[in-house]
Amino acid sequence: MIAKTLVALSLASVALSQSGPYGQCGGQGWTGPTTCESGWTCTYSNPYYSQCLPGSNTTPTSSTTTTGGGSSTGVPGSAPTVPPSTAVGKLPALGWNSWNAYRGDINEAKILAAANQFISLGLKTVGYQYVNIDDCWAKMGRDTNTKRIVPDPNKFPNGISGLATQIHALGLKIGIYSDAGTATCAGFPGSLGFESVDAATWGEWGIDYLKYDNCNVPGNWSDTGSPPGGDWYNSNSAIRYRQMTAALAAQSRPIQYAICNWGNANVWDWGGRVGHSWRMSGDSSATWSYITSIINTNLAHISSTKFGAHNDMDMMEIGNGNLTIQEQRSHFAAWVFLKSPILLGTDLSKLTTAQLAIIKNTELLAFHQDATVGTPAAPFKAYSTAPTTSPPEYYSGASSKGTHVFIINTSSSSATKQFTLSSVPGLGTSGNFKLHDMWTGADVSGTYAASASFSVSVAAHDTAAYLITKA
Ligand SMILES: *[C@@H]1O[C@H](CO)[C@@H](O)[C@H](O)[C@H]1NC(C)=O
Ligand SMILES: *[C@@H]1O[C@H](CO)[C@@H](O)[C@H](O)[C@H]1NC(C)=O
Ligand SMILES: *[C@@H]1O[C@H](CO)[C@@H](O)[C@H](O)[C@H]1NC(C)=O
Repeated sequence: MIAKTLVALSLASVALSQSGPYGQCGGQGWTGPTTCESGWTCTYSNPYYSQCLPGSNTTPTSSTTTTGGGSSTGVPGSAPTVPPSTAVGKLPALGWNSWNAYRGDINEAKILAAANQFISLGLKTVGYQYVNIDDCWAKMGRDTNTKRIVPDPNKFPNGISGLATQIHALGLKIGIYSDAGTATCAGFPGSLGFESVDAATWGEWGIDYLKYDNCNVPGNWSDTGSPPGGDWYNSNSAIRYRQMTAALAAQSRPIQYAICNWGNANVWDWGGRVGHSWRMSGDSSATWSYITSIINTNLAHISSTKFGAHNDMDMMEIGNGNLTIQEQRSHFAAWVFLKSPILLGTDLSKLTTAQLAIIKNTELLAFHQDATVGTPAAPFKAYSTAPTTSPPEYYSGASSKGTHVFIINTSSSSATKQFTLSSVPGLGTSGNFKLHDMWTGADVSGTYAASASFSVSVAAHDTAAYLITKA
């Protein structure tokens, strides 16, 4: 029923002033639409998130907070402290997720088509690995005897395990989705209180990756004020996610663990102790304003990203909406140089040659997946009188190949960008250098002294990318 509703609605045009199916429609800091399109109701989930859910007769309600801080029940003391698996998740994930492309309108054919496109489009060859199913894969109720979540047989006639077998046969990995609440954002069974049975089910099916969402959290799990000891690792939010870490660790196969609590409860302070990546905000949109704002959000917590622990700027919008090709290049480059997970979020069969060239750029992917340097690129002052912009425009970082500079033109017309080589952290103040354009794969002609200035014209909202080595 849900699937049919979604099909019908996805064909309808969505008024920009209203949120679409399952879209966000409220919450602290939310500046987008607060109403939903016809047939959907803006439903309170928690102080940070209200969402358009099916139906027109549910009244938005607010939860009552009965306990705060997590100390009253003594849960923190007994909550598991198991760290995330070190067998997976050292590098930021590279793959695809069904949500941005299809929302809840998913089935085995669509997921398998994406997996096959990893092969036919050459995405697997350049490192894309995870084929991830988002919300709406399950039946509404758990199995009454086993308490397991049951795949929707209409969408997944071979079950998730049958799909996993096919995806593994392609040499790829499969991801699943659940929620650290009583129900997922779309209302399917959540895993709070069922962590062990669900992790065991996924382990048995051959699941390699879990995205764990944050809808429908019971009021007694909310955080009020500072957590015990001032460490948000002991917050009720973190404990909900820690329970799943322990359940995943009990399985025989390693499962990469993507925390999706939208940047709540200072997740950047504890995400690396609980999972391999953590979302930093609400859902992405295919807009330049989303891209620039999530760059700023990431920069505020850039020191949290390292091997095994990654700020997650959310799934990719390349192929969706009206981003210019320059904006799509900046979108990819920023996720690369800040080492966010990169999960493609579109119908891969519709990607143009230019879009494929962006997401298959092996030099940018090599920076993202560098096995010897785990730190992201960071802003630097390009020359003594360089203006301050938001987000910053100049970034540098190291890889096993040398030093890299990334330059975003944040304004809406093309501009000449420049930097003094000695201003780039790590290059030093003497010697000569050569530059290599990571987008074109070509060397820049000539050499540059440390005291020299390099300049380049950057199109509006585009990002230039260079590797700099000693000449
Ligand atoms: C919330 O209530 C449930 C059900 O009584 C209980 O299992 C859980 O431990 C409570 N959570 C907290 C943080 O108190
Ligand atoms: C893209 O642009 C078209 C034409 O201006 C507009 O109708 C449409 O709503 C835009 N789509 C998005 C997702 O912004
Ligand atoms: C490109 O970005 C820079 C920095 O924001 C801006 O100053 C410049 O105006 C943009 N392009 C041009 C020529 O305006």
